[in-house]
Order: sequence, then structure tokens, then C-alpha cells
Amino acid sequence: MTKGIKDKVVVITGASSGLGAAAARMLSQEGATVVLAARRIDRIQALADQLVAAGRAALALATDVTSRDEVKRLVDSTVDRYGRVDVLINNAGIMPVAPLERLKVGEWDSTIDINLKGVLYGVAAALPHMKQQKSGHLVFVSSVAGHKVAPGMVVYAATKHAIRALAEGVRQELRHFNIRTTVISPGAVRTELLDGISEPDIADAVRKRVEPVALPAEFFARAVVFALSQPEEMDVNEILFRPTRQEL
Ligand SMILES: NC(=O)c1ccc[n+]([C@@H]2O[C@H](COP(=O)([O-])OP(=O)(O)OC[C@H]3O[C@@H](n4cnc5c(N)ncnc54)[C@H](OP(=O)(O)O)[C@@H]3O)[C@@H](O)[C@H]2O)c1
Repeated sequence: MTKGIKDKVVVITGASSGLGAAAARMLSQEGATVVLAARRIDRIQALADQLVAAGRAALALATDVTSRDEVKRLVDSTVDRYGRVDVLINNAGIMPVAPLERLKVGEWDSTIDINLKGVLYGVAAALPHMKQQKSGHLVFVSSVAGHKVAPGMVVYAATKHAIRALAEGVRQELRHFNIRTTVISPGAVRTELLDGISEPDIADAVRKRVEPVALPAEFFARAVVFALSQPEEMDVNEILFRPTRQEL
């Protein structure tokens, strides 16, 4: 078990698959109490049951991050059950990429609602508790697309750039309350993210580019463990990692 993680209460959004599920598993192994949030309750309940069967504390709470009330309930219920919230990993996200000229405006809305507004709801839900505790750690998941814009992924990149701006602003305003802020920007990682691309030709092209180099989701979990296990006075603000062979 890793010092700095054992007994921490960690809420993870988007814990039903990919990066969130991998982080939940590794943090649980390292001794954290994990609260798993996503819309697919069957998935997060099955994962929580596995972790509990292994002798650890875990809870699954169905949450849609586009609902401010549901995100507030997630964090408040965590505090009711475990007495505090040490870490919120704002990980839920979608990437329905397509060129702008295809006018997938509904997908633009969902991308902003989930990737940006959902994260803001997370900050709003955790902040009062962390302020009162005089401690806390907010983890944000950006992307290489939060550092670089490329054709075909403009709205996604806009939300991921915004996450970095948000996290830096949160850091500046909340450091007085002893709240740490970490942005993790992964490159290609093998998850279900590409299943959300609705245009078949785009999905095909992205898969051909990404799948040969994509890393296992556990590599993201390692970055989370690194950031969370540092001494309280050290705030790891940015981690950017890619597959060695990734081009963008
Ligand atoms: N994989 C990569 O290469 C990569 C690279 C850079 C950044 N990222 C970022 O990593 C994060 C996780 O993505 P992933 O790669 O692990 O993809 P994933 O396997 O598709 O997981 C996405 C997660 O987000 C959840 N989610 C989506 N909409 C939600 C909503 N409205 N409310 C609550 N949860 C919602 C999903 O759960 P439900 O559907 O059950 O709600 C799922 O657990 C995203 O922010 C993504 O942008 C991924």
C-alpha cells in the first residue's frame, strides 16, 4: 500500500470503464476507499462488489455528470458515508469527434455538457467540503488534445484546453484552502472512448491511427497514484504522457 493513498476517500467519475475503472482498481489496491460514479450502475456496482470482496471499502453511486443535483448528491453522499472527501477525480468524458462541417451540433452540446460543465459541477460539489476540511485534491483529465488542436477534433480539443485553464484557475484560487490541483493529459489509451464516434468513416480512421499505439488504461492509473501519493505540501500540477510512438 502506498503512503498518501491508504485510507484516502476518492470519488471517481466515469468509473464504469477505461481510465476511471483502472484508476479505481489501482487506488483500491493501494488502500484508498473508492466511490465509483457513472451512469451504468450495473458496471460500477460489479466493480465495487469485486473490490469489497477483496476486503476493501468501495461504493457505487449512479451519477450523470450533466446533472448538477446528481453530482452534488454523489459528493454529499460520500461525505455522509465516509466523513470526508479527500480526492475528486473528474474523469467522465466523451469524444464524439467529427469535422465541424458535418454540423454534429448535438454532439458539440454533449461534449461541452459532459467534459466541461460536468467537471464544473464536480468542483462545485467538492469545494464546500474541501474548504471546510482545509484539505483536498481535485484531479482533472485533459488530453494531448488539451495541448494541441487538430482538424476533426476541434470541440473536444476546446473542452480539453478549457479543462487546463479551469484547473490553473482553481489552483490559484483554492491553494489558500490547502486544496491541490492536478491535470493529467493522456495520449492514446485503449478504452471505450472511440465507441462514441458516430461517423463510421471517422471512427475507422481514428481507430487505424490510435489502436496500434494505444497504451493500457493502467498506465493512466500509475500517473494518478504518483500525483496522489506526494506529500501534502507538494502539488503535482501537470502530467502529460503519450505512447512513445504517438505522433500528435
Ligand atoms: N482513452 C484515451 O486515449 C484518452 C486520452 C486523453 C483523454 N482521455 C479522457 O479520459 C477520460 C475517460 O475516458 P476513457 O478513455 O476512459 O473512455 P471510456 O472508456 O469511454 O470511459 C468514459 C467514462 O465516462 C463516463 N461518462 C460518459 N458520459 C457520462 C455522463 N454523462 N455522466 C457520468 N459519466 C459519464 C462513462 O460512463 P457511463 O457511460 O456509464 O456513464 C465512462 O465511465 C475522458 O475525459 C477522456 O476525454 C482519454
